[in-house]
Amino acid sequence: MLEHGGNLSAAVTRYGIPLENWLDLSTGINPNHYPIADIPPHQWHQLPNDEDGLVNIAANYYGCQSLLPTSGSQAALQALPTLRSLGTIAMLKPMYQEHAYAWQRYGHQVLSFNDLNDEHILNKADVVLLCNPNNPTGKQFSAQALLSLHAKLANRGGWLVVDEAFMDATPEHSIALHSHLDGLFVLRSLGKFFGLAGARVGFMLAADEQLKKLQESLGPWTLTGPSRFIAKQALQDKTWQENTRITLKSSSKRLETLLSQYGLKPTAGTALFQYVMTAQAQVLQERLAAKGIWVRLFKEQPALRFGLPHDSGWQLLEGALKLL
Ligand SMILES: Cc1ncc(COP(=O)(O)O)c(C=O)c1O
Repeated sequence: MLEHGGNLSAAVTRYGIPLENWLDLSTGINPNHYPIADIPPHQWHQLPNDEDGLVNIAANYYGCQSLLPTSGSQAALQALPTLRSLGTIAMLKPMYQEHAYAWQRYGHQVLSFNDLNDEHILNKADVVLLCNPNNPTGKQFSAQALLSLHAKLANRGGWLVVDEAFMDATPEHSIALHSHLDGLFVLRSLGKFFGLAGARVGFMLAADEQLKKLQESLGPWTLTGPSRFIAKQALQDKTWQENTRITLKSSSKRLETLLSQYGLKPTAGTALFQYVMTAQAQVLQERLAAKGIWVRLFKEQPALRFGLPHDSGWQLLEGALKLL
């Protein structure tokens, strides 16, 4: 199993600070999640209903023609490598590592690329996979650049897979609208912007034929009834979505300013996190952890990723940054 942010119990053991005293900034999850309404008891009692309207509501929210709800986008990304015969997969690096792990585990050859200019790698690939915006670097790709890459791949029977788990704050950059095209796959998640990572709701957006294969591979009832119920509410609540876009963008800007003020100018970020490349990453992570602040360390880069604090977390973070 790969290491992930949100692994607070490891921090509790290592630093001896009780769980409730930590400020967890190690994920890119919205600290103010979508409010959960009372779940009608029949949602727990009956089997999940595929005809409950979720598919249309989600397609309307993403602006796509067809999609498949999955148990988090993780379930979809893990099953995707089984839908293709073994080949060469080019993946952005650094990037959310579960993708490489899933394709390698199934036997595909995984190569890395840093930018869309790395044509010597991209030209060899049967499948190109990237996150937009990227986690953890915050790097963004234009829809136009991705669509032209997709066209080249599709011409030779290849696929483009775009993980848009962090796209909800900037839907204007999404390529969901084109996801019905042959060889294009877009992953979405309710875990980040909606802050509902525990509900395990994700979607694969793709052509119908591929979705059928994916559904066959995942089997029935991949998403629970209560999660479907919550997802329908969240995806239809335009007022909450619009307010959240504004709040997240201003919180992210505030985080960028705060980190810069204490000598940790972010290299890039999204509405949900800031990414700081620094040779001191490991030492800084330890110093912050000693003060009860848990951030995500990327040793290879080396870099730190800071998620957004909740209301009282800002003061705690500033207090710790002052003493670094
Ligand atoms: C870029 C990216 N994609 C996909 C996922 C999987 O998220 P979920 O399964 O909660 O939808 C994550 C989780 O951290 C992620 O960071």
